[in-house]
Amino acid sequence: MTTTVFEVGKVNALKPLEGKVAIVTGASRGIGAEIAKVLARNGATVVGTYHNSPKHIQDVAKTIEEEGGKFHALHVDVSVYEDAERLALEVIENFGKIDILINNAGITKDRTFRKMTKEEWDTVINVNLNGVFNTTKAVIEHMLAQNYGRIVSISSIVGQAGAFGQTNYAATKAGILGFTKSLALETASKGITVNAVCPGYIGTEMVAAMPEEVLNNIVSKVPMKRLGEPGEVAQAVLYLIQADYVTGQVIAVNGGLYM
Ligand code: CAA
Repeated sequence: MTTTVFEVGKVNALKPLEGKVAIVTGASRGIGAEIAKVLARNGATVVGTYHNSPKHIQDVAKTIEEEGGKFHALHVDVSVYEDAERLALEVIENFGKIDILINNAGITKDRTFRKMTKEEWDTVINVNLNGVFNTTKAVIEHMLAQNYGRIVSISSIVGQAGAFGQTNYAATKAGILGFTKSLALETASKGITVNAVCPGYIGTEMVAAMPEEVLNNIVSKVPMKRLGEPGEVAQAVLYLIQADYVTGQVIAVNGGLYM
């Protein structure tokens, strides 16, 4: 005899995010694509944004649809406030609500500070940090009104430890941590949790673009002696979405590189 118990309380144990609507920014590649897939596998309706990679977002959509998940792609430049507002409006119009926001979209423009141009500084701040403001601002009133929300922002080990050639990127990733803790305080009594994940060096195109000897040197210093996988970051995000009593926290997924 086989007894299969799918229900824990009112939550489907196999698809705990069933009925939830999630936005994942920067869902076309890397960590964002994996988060979108994991949330969809767990039952969420996922709206994934893309900016420069229409082909890649189609691949993500195809994978999720083949697995029986629900996924919709939207072209959004998170650095443009009106784009973020349009994103929130379209999600509410089409799916009725927004339960989960994953602020993942991010870019690098690495350069030592003396050589860094104002444009390189501004572009990274606008996408990585102002983008988090824009998308969060666009969804927060809705989450407050429904007395429920889960916001997880993808920071970085670089925001905690700094990195050579990354003053702009590090400033945005450290900024996300301060933003997360402050917003967590403001919304903790209103059903909303706000947390951050700090990936270390994960096997994505962003990391693959690093000079080989710089990357090899970093991997040799990782206590686990390997790069992380996007799925390992997505699992931390999934945990934070389901953790009702966890807010203002930073989970590092870095193989022990920074403690
Ligand atoms: N450590 C120490 N010294 C370094 C260095 C490093 N990592 N990288 C460069 N230098 C030195 C150079 O040897 C050079 O020294 P000399 O003047 O004595 O010759 C000096 O710094 C300046 O070098 P460059 O002229 O080459 O500097 P640049 O302004 O062109 O910048 C760089 C080079 C962009 C920093 C390049 O080294 C690089 O891409 N480094 C990797 C940056 C990095 O870690 N990116 C992570 C991307 S992944 C990510 O960000 C995801 C995440 O969240 C973890």
